[in-house]
Amino acid sequence: MEQNLEGLVIPKHVALILDGNGRWAKKRGLPRTMGHKEGCVTVEKTVEIAARMGIEYLTVYGFSTENWKRSAEEVGALMQLFRYYMVRLLKIASANNVRVRMIGDRSRFDQDIIDGINRLERETRDNTGLTFVIAVNYGGRDEITRAVRRLAADCAEGKQKAEDITEELLASYLDTAGMPDPDLLIRTSGEIRLSNYLLWQLAYTEIYVTDCLWPDFDKEELTRAIVAYNRRDRRFGGVK
Ligand code: IPE
Ligand code: IPE
Ligand code: MG
Repeated sequence: MEQNLEGLVIPKHVALILDGNGRWAKKRGLPRTMGHKEGCVTVEKTVEIAARMGIEYLTVYGFSTENWKRSAEEVGALMQLFRYYMVRLLKIASANNVRVRMIGDRSRFDQDIIDGINRLERETRDNTGLTFVIAVNYGGRDEITRAVRRLAADCAEGKQKAEDITEELLASYLDTAGMPDPDLLIRTSGEIRLSNYLLWQLAYTEIYVTDCLWPDFDKEELTRAIVAYNRRDRRFGGVK
């Protein structure tokens, strides 16, 4: 049944763990890489839907620091998909006034992918609509470790003082500096875990899990998640 968004609070920042591409393909007797290909189409559609709904930030988990453990064939296919979709994304972002930002340690990618990421960020920087954040070679622990390393280096150089370190200061060293924390986390394919995603930022995020496999995710699924979000009582540790 189609749900209506009227009267609902639209979360400002939605984080997504897009899971289930492999299972989607397996169900159809296809190779896992076909699931990833279909998953990319769903990402494109979701960006357009989120932009139209008025979501301000959409952060998707594209490739984790743990995903390098997969077969060389699967990792290679994912890299090829990045190459292809970065070009498409530039068009989609321009057409929908979307600003693209990547989080994660991009230094491990091939130079042409790094160049593509930099170009995508540079050419969409002034767009004022949805900020679409892609987490690639991203791990929450890795992000915090890299942030602390830079902060420690700044302390050693006298640019920061240990006693001045606050949550806000540490957050400003994270890849997500300047972004609000996610209000809603959606994970597809029924797995109830964080898988090293946005460990710092998800401290008070509402979590919604759907059995829907990522390639099948659509506007109705997103709407259902937003309806569920609207029923939550966000107390942030206080009393209402
Ligand atoms: C998510 O789908 C995409 C990535 C992690 C790159 P999976 O590839 O994890 O699909 P399942 O979980 O094996 O079904
Ligand atoms: C999380 O999914 C990472 C991405 C969606 C990119 P995984 O499929 O890699 O996570 P696990 O293995 O189920 O924890
Ligand atoms: Mg998975």
